[in-house]
Amino acid sequence: MNLQGKTVAITGANRGIGWALVQEISKRKSSIAMIVRKKESVTPEMIQELKEKGAPEVYVFEQDLSHAESLEGLVEEIFKSCTPHVLINNAGLLTGGLLEEQDAKEIQKMIQVNVVAVSLLSQYFLRKFLEQGEGKIVNNASVMGEMRFPASSTYAASKAYVIGLTESLKKELRETNVNTLLMYTPGVKTDMFDDIHNKYEKHIDLDFLSSIPAEDWAKKVVQAIEKDHEEVKPTGATGFGLILNRHFPRAFEALVATKFHRS
Ligand SMILES: NC(=O)c1ccc[n+]([C@@H]2O[C@H](COP(=O)([O-])OP(=O)(O)OC[C@H]3O[C@@H](n4cnc5c(N)ncnc54)[C@H](OP(=O)(O)O)[C@@H]3O)[C@@H](O)[C@H]2O)c1
Repeated sequence: MNLQGKTVAITGANRGIGWALVQEISKRKSSIAMIVRKKESVTPEMIQELKEKGAPEVYVFEQDLSHAESLEGLVEEIFKSCTPHVLINNAGLLTGGLLEEQDAKEIQKMIQVNVVAVSLLSQYFLRKFLEQGEGKIVNNASVMGEMRFPASSTYAASKAYVIGLTESLKKELRETNVNTLLMYTPGVKTDMFDDIHNKYEKHIDLDFLSSIPAEDWAKKVVQAIEKDHEEVKPTGATGFGLILNRHFPRAFEALVATKFHRS
C-alpha cells in the first residue's frame, strides 16, 4: 500500500514501538490518527515533530482500551474526523511470572487490551474498510505468541490469540481489497522490554534476551506495510529461535528448560 496521502490509525502511539511507528509513517506523508490512553501524553512538540517529518494532519483520540464498551463509539468519532486506510493495533500490556503468582486484575486488564480491544477494533475498522473498498489491519503480536516461554503463560496466550485472529482474518479477506499484516515483534528496547526483567527474571535466566532499537523495527514494519507483506519477522538469533521452535519443538523446549527455575 502506498501510504502517501493516506491516514493511519494506531493505538499506543505516544511511546515505545507506537511512537517509532508514527515517526516512520509521517516520513511517507501520511496523516496520523493517534489513539492514546491519555491525551496529555501527546505534547504539542510531538505533534509538531510528526508534522515536520511530513504528516499533513495529526489527530489525537483519547481511549482507554480496557473499556470495550466505548470502542465502537471511538471508531465512529475517528471516521467523522478523518478516513483511515490503515489500523495498527499496537498498544499492549505485559504480564509475567508463574501463573499462581500473577495478579488476577492485571491478567484481566491485559486480556481487555491485548485480546478484546484488538478483536473489536479490528471488527469495527474492518466494516469501514469494506465499505470504502480498501484497508489494512496491522496487528502487533510477539515472538512470544509462538515461542511460549515458561513464566509468560497469560501474555504468550494473548499474543497467540492475536496470531490466530490475524491468520484467520487474512483468509477471510482473500476476495476483498482489505488485507492484514502480522507483526512477530522481537525484543525491542522500550519500557515494556525493561519490564520483562522485573516480571520474568525470578524464574528464567534472561542472558539470551536481546533487543533492537524501536526505530529499526518500525522501519521494517513500515516497509512490510508498503510491500503488502502478510507477516513481518525478526532476523538474527530471535529469527533462528522462531525457526527452531516451529520445526524442532523438542529441541527448543529442552533449551528453554535449562533457563527456567521455579524457585
Ligand atoms: N518491546 C518489546 O520487546 C515487545 C516485544 C514483542 C511485542 N511487543 C508488543 O508491542 C506493543 C507495543 O509495546 P511497547 O514495547 O511499545 O510497550 P510500551 O513502551 O510499554 O508501550 C505500551 C503502549 O500501550 C499503551 N497502552 C497500554 N495500556 C493501554 C490502555 N489500557 N489503553 C490505551 N493504551 C494502552 C501505552 O499507553 P500509556 O503510555 O498511556 O501507558 C503505550 O502507549 C505491545 O503490544 C507489545 O506487546 C513488544
